[in-house]
Amino acid sequence: MYRFMNERPNRRPRLSRKWSRVVLCVLASVAGLILVGAVLDWISELEDSSQCSFPLKAADPNVRPHEYENTFATYRQFGPKCSISSLELHGPYEPVCPDRPSMLTAMSSGGRIGRDAIYIPRGCDMRWFTTEEVCKILGHFSQVILVGDSMLRHVIGALNIIVREDLGYGGVTDWNFDSREMERCFCNDQFDVTDCSVQGIYKTEDVIKHDPGSLACPRLVPGWSTDLRMEQMVRYPIEDVELERLERAIDTKSNSRKAFILGHGLWNNLELDKSKAWLDTVIKVIDSRLKLRRKRYPGRNMPILLMTPNAAGEKKPDEYIVTQGNKALVRFEHSMAQETAKQNIDHLGTWNMSIQANLYDGVHMDMKGNLLKAMMVVNWLYLLAKEEDMTKTRRVPIIAE
Ligand SMILES: *[C@@H]1O[C@H](CO)[C@@H](O)[C@H](O)[C@H]1NC(C)=O
Repeated sequence: MYRFMNERPNRRPRLSRKWSRVVLCVLASVAGLILVGAVLDWISELEDSSQCSFPLKAADPNVRPHEYENTFATYRQFGPKCSISSLELHGPYEPVCPDRPSMLTAMSSGGRIGRDAIYIPRGCDMRWFTTEEVCKILGHFSQVILVGDSMLRHVIGALNIIVREDLGYGGVTDWNFDSREMERCFCNDQFDVTDCSVQGIYKTEDVIKHDPGSLACPRLVPGWSTDLRMEQMVRYPIEDVELERLERAIDTKSNSRKAFILGHGLWNNLELDKSKAWLDTVIKVIDSRLKLRRKRYPGRNMPILLMTPNAAGEKKPDEYIVTQGNKALVRFEHSMAQETAKQNIDHLGTWNMSIQANLYDGVHMDMKGNLLKAMMVVNWLYLLAKEEDMTKTRRVPIIAE
C-alpha cells in the first residue's frame, strides 16, 4: 500500500516532469533563438545607422590617394582667380557603393551640412576620379550622348572642363572667343553668364576640329576616341528636326558601346504627362535606331539615365513658385523615379544635391555644382563599364580598386 501509494501518484508527475523538461528545453532554445536574432538585428541596425550618421568612417588614404588631392590643381587657369578644389566638393568616406542601384540611391538621397559644404551621398560613397580615370571610363564607350535642356548642357560643360583640364574655359568654345568674351566667360562665369553658357561645347568632334591639343584624354589614354555630345531637346512636343538630329547622331555600329543621359522638366512646367511623353519619345528614338525592344529583351537594354531638375533657390522668380517651386520639384522627382522604373531605365535625382548649393538664378547650379553632377554621371558610367568587365572577365579592370 505504502509502495502503491507512494509510487502511483508519482508515476504521472515523473512522466510529466520529463515532458516538462523537454518543453522547457524547447522554450529555452526558442527564446534563445529569438534573443540571438534580436541581437543580430540590433547589430545590423547599428551598422546601417552608422553608415548614415556621424562621424563617417574616412576612406583609407592608401587605397584612395587621389581623392585626398585637389584633382583640379594641375588644370589650366587654376590659380587665385579660379581656385576651386575638388576637396570642396567631395570628402571620401567608407564604404563606396558596391553597385549601380545603391550608387544611384546614395547620390540621389544625400545632403550637405550647411550651404555649399561638401556633398555626402547617403549610406555609401561615390568616387572622385582623376582626369586620367575619367578618360579611361569615358573611353570604355564609343558614344556618351546627353539629351535635354540647359541643365544637361551644364553637365557636358563640366565634363569638358575635366577632359580638357581647363578650369577657365574648358566648358566653352573658347577657340572662337574675342577678348571681351575671354574676359566675360572665365571660370564660374562659363556657367553663370547666360551669354557664355550658350556657347558651351556640344561635341568632342568640335574640340578635335578646332583645338585638338586641348583634349587631355588622347594624351592620357592612347587611342582614346569617345564621342561625347549633347543634343538640345527642351520641350514636349519635340520638334521633328530635333528628333532627326538625335537619330542621326546615334552611331548604329553594333559593336559600339553607348550610354545616354537625359534631362527634362522645367520647359514643360513639370507637367508629368508631358515629361513622360518626352521621355517615351526619346527612348523610342534610341531603341528604334538601335533596333532594341526594351521590354522584350531586358538583357539588351541600352544604358539610359534620367536626371531630374535641381531644387529651387531663393532667386527663382515668384511667378514660377507654384509650378516650379520646391514642392512641385520634389513631387516631380518622386513621380519620375517611378516612371523610370517602369521604363526600365536609371534615375538620378539632383534635388538633394542642389538644395543647399549655390543656384545663381534660383534654377541653375554654378561650376562647383556642375562638376559634382558630372562626377556623378562618371560614377554611373564607371559602374556600367565595370558590370560589363565582369561579364567578360577582362584581366585588367578599367580602374584599379
Ligand atoms: C532626397 O533624399 C531622401 C533621403 O535622404 C529621399 O527619400 C528623397 O527621395 C530624395 N529626393 C527628394 C526629392 O526628396
